[in-house]
Amino acid sequence: MENFIPYGKQFIDEDDIKAVVEVLKSDFITQGPKIKEFEEALASYVGAKYAVVFNSGTSALHGAYFALDLKKDDEFITTPMTFVATSNAGLYLGAKPVFVDIEKDTGNIDISKIEEKITDKTKLLSVVHYSGHPVDMEKVKELADKYNLKIVEDACHALGAKYKNERIGNCKYSDVTIFSFHPVKHITTGEGGAVLTNNKEIYEKLLIFRNHGITKDRFINNPDGDWYYEMQYLGYNYRMTDIQASLGISQLKKLNRFIEKRRNIAKIYNKAFKDNPYFDLPVEKDYAYHSYHLYPIKLKDKYKEKKAEIFRSLRKEGVGVQVHYIPVYLQPYYQNLGYKKGLCPIAEDFYKREISLPIFPAMTEKDIEYVIEKVFKVFI
Ligand SMILES: Cc1ncc(COP(=O)(O)O)c(C=O)c1O
Repeated sequence: MENFIPYGKQFIDEDDIKAVVEVLKSDFITQGPKIKEFEEALASYVGAKYAVVFNSGTSALHGAYFALDLKKDDEFITTPMTFVATSNAGLYLGAKPVFVDIEKDTGNIDISKIEEKITDKTKLLSVVHYSGHPVDMEKVKELADKYNLKIVEDACHALGAKYKNERIGNCKYSDVTIFSFHPVKHITTGEGGAVLTNNKEIYEKLLIFRNHGITKDRFINNPDGDWYYEMQYLGYNYRMTDIQASLGISQLKKLNRFIEKRRNIAKIYNKAFKDNPYFDLPVEKDYAYHSYHLYPIKLKDKYKEKKAEIFRSLRKEGVGVQVHYIPVYLQPYYQNLGYKKGLCPIAEDFYKREISLPIFPAMTEKDIEYVIEKVFKVFI
């Protein structure tokens, strides 16, 4: 196809390439000095004490749930309007995801519906800042404190977003925050992820989990030599490489510009599509500074049944739309676990209406105009 604009894409410049090449020419290509440097830069950017980088957002989630002691037969509350990884990472530990329906406008978990799902087995709340719009975290924390629950923020969509004027990732209202550095995200390391926390114990457990459960200090047994190491948990090889971390450091320097660009594209879309009769636009609540990982539109009643046709026509016109998301529990694997259709009606309805339009920093004015023109063409 001549012109095809994807829904999301990385932005890599000469500085990024130079940073990666420098590492390739150095002595360390994995777990060298760049890992710590990236972790410190990330922690400082979001305003948290500690960062531990992982080789994906998914492994970061696995590490976070592990560090918060999520175990077999525990329950954790989450949203169905997310990528499967948010919930899968709990399944890895034998825990049971409990899905709570979402808000119609933001697509975020409906906090008013959490309490009725809390049981004696509930261990933690894992909330997702859907599309980059922060969840109302003060309310989540109030609830978690009442029932003594841990809080995970899956902020894979929300690096650079702010809640009540403070950066997502500072963990003011949570135990840990997770980011992903997949190429469609705000910054990329190819594959990659991170866990942020202000808790030293969680931080140390994450470092060990990332490296097979092995530690080189704080031993259980007596060391019999300087080579001694000890495996204390069943961990994984979830390490990020220095090659990736160097790209992350370089990308992070451009993050504010990337966010501004995304917000500007959203502003242009908002203006062009204002009061249109076909679909509703994303919202930005007064407590939110949206980072627009996605620009999700929601078809109005009249067009809902035509979603597949509209989606196909937009793709045919070179507008690389996507859908975020099929509610997690509707996946065959989850259906086999016993989750039933109808569990979260608002999420199911949201899915029937939602289409994500292209939004990424490398989009040109021409690209944006092209998308707007083709969207109107398909509907009219
Ligand atoms: C909300 C959410 N959580 C978790 C993940 C998993 O991140 P990764 O692809 O880096 O493993 C993603 C990635 O798409 C995501 O969007």
